[in-house]
Amino acid sequence: MNPTESSTITRSNRKRLHVITWGCQMNVYDSARMADVLAPLGYAPAETPDGADMVILNTCHIRDKAAEKVFSELGRLRRLKESRAAEGGRMILAVAGCVAQAEGQEILTRAPYVDLVLGPQTYHRLPEMVARAARAGGAVIDTEFPAEQKFDHLPDEAAPQGLTAFLTIQEGCDKFCSFCVVPYTRGAEQSRPAAAVLAEARRLVAQGSLELTLLGQNVNAWRAEGPDGRDWGLGRLLRALAEIPGLKRLRYTTSHPRDMDEALIAAHRDLPMLMPFLHLPVQSGSDRILAAMNRKHTAADYLRVVERLRAARPDLALSSDFIVGHPGETEADFAATLALVREVRFAQAFSFKYSPRPGTPAAGAPAQVAEADKDRRLQALQALLREQQAAFNAGCVGLTLPVLFTGPGRHPGQVVGRSPFLQPVHVTGSAGLIGVEESVRIAAAHPNSLSGTPLQEKLRA
Ligand code: SAH
Ligand code: SF4
Ligand code: F3S
Repeated sequence: MNPTESSTITRSNRKRLHVITWGCQMNVYDSARMADVLAPLGYAPAETPDGADMVILNTCHIRDKAAEKVFSELGRLRRLKESRAAEGGRMILAVAGCVAQAEGQEILTRAPYVDLVLGPQTYHRLPEMVARAARAGGAVIDTEFPAEQKFDHLPDEAAPQGLTAFLTIQEGCDKFCSFCVVPYTRGAEQSRPAAAVLAEARRLVAQGSLELTLLGQNVNAWRAEGPDGRDWGLGRLLRALAEIPGLKRLRYTTSHPRDMDEALIAAHRDLPMLMPFLHLPVQSGSDRILAAMNRKHTAADYLRVVERLRAARPDLALSSDFIVGHPGETEADFAATLALVREVRFAQAFSFKYSPRPGTPAAGAPAQVAEADKDRRLQALQALLREQQAAFNAGCVGLTLPVLFTGPGRHPGQVVGRSPFLQPVHVTGSAGLIGVEESVRIAAAHPNSLSGTPLQEKLRA
């Protein structure tokens, strides 16, 4: 927050802002930035929606279930908004994010008590929208894809994100996979200039962040002019970021297999601070389904990329996304997915039943898969992935891993951090570990985490 402006916010005009976030990490980043945009207007974060002056739902449209949650949450907030009004106050209710972009009008029809609807590309205009909503009787809607880039219109001031921070460097998608809403909700691929990314990264590190995760729907499609006037790709950008003093760890997500170029693979070889964990969605192991999905890569292409990555960084742990039951998927196609999983051996992965999304090509395809088949395939795939995750975690027992500790654990006297492979690691240790990267001898593996003992005597409990 700008200090001169914050000093003009007195206790009486301070307002409470509650933000509820669903969806991907890009929404988490956007929620933080919306709070930054609203801070000069006197809005300070509030833990609960009770008595809030403004509530923002930052929404996700990726699957049907995600979108439906928004409407049930709106029903609950309506009652809070009414009781606030009965007390003579006002709660501004805003719906932001990908459901707002895709279903703006429907939100206003189904929930006319909503004051503001804004898409992911317009949140820099929030102050103006809030002012209009405060004046106007009706709702304000802004789901344009404006010519100006929102990033150029965000305040330089931002609340610190803590020891680990997200930094959006790329937005949108031009790939149009058959099943996916993202190209419609986030618009065309856009990369932020390298200088802006580097400046934001330096600010985050100055504010205390030790680990940065670069974000984008297609983060490895990032391409922009570097400070040297040359054309930079993600590999080059990572090298520049690795030089920021005080920064300990770098990650990026989510990547598309097609954009995994030589320079990026070389960055995995050359930069120890680029963590050996990569989320690289493949969706299916069947070439027929990959073609129907418009993924523009085959199973063999994916395996080849994995091979090159592992040659560059032998300890690289892989994660992925899978969809079962895409229109046209047969038992043989599904068997090809299981075969690919067996070949790669994932450290973890996400898997979903295909969910038809309005307006996407696959939703209208004739050969929709029966729900019972989707259920059965998802269970089989998840059992295999769980087995692989357990094996990966078990393989860490006995190793000494650097863990970046970020906070207290669930039990008293415990602290928790992340391994290089993104596993949560619990240790019994002093709070002095928080904010420190420390070697931990891994003693036990659990389904989704590890536990162990910090090597340094003085940091043990
Ligand atoms: N940009 C990333 C992923 C974006 S969405 C990529 O290209 O891989 C995150 C994940 O949600 C996708 O990887 C996919 O597995 C899943 N997903 C997207 N649309 C879906 C749908 N209609 N039904 C089920 N899962 C879906
Ligand atoms: Fe969606 Fe495909 Fe784009 Fe990923 S690459 S965001 S799955 S359209
Ligand atoms: Fe969801 Fe939009 Fe992210 S649809 S996954 S919030 S890009």
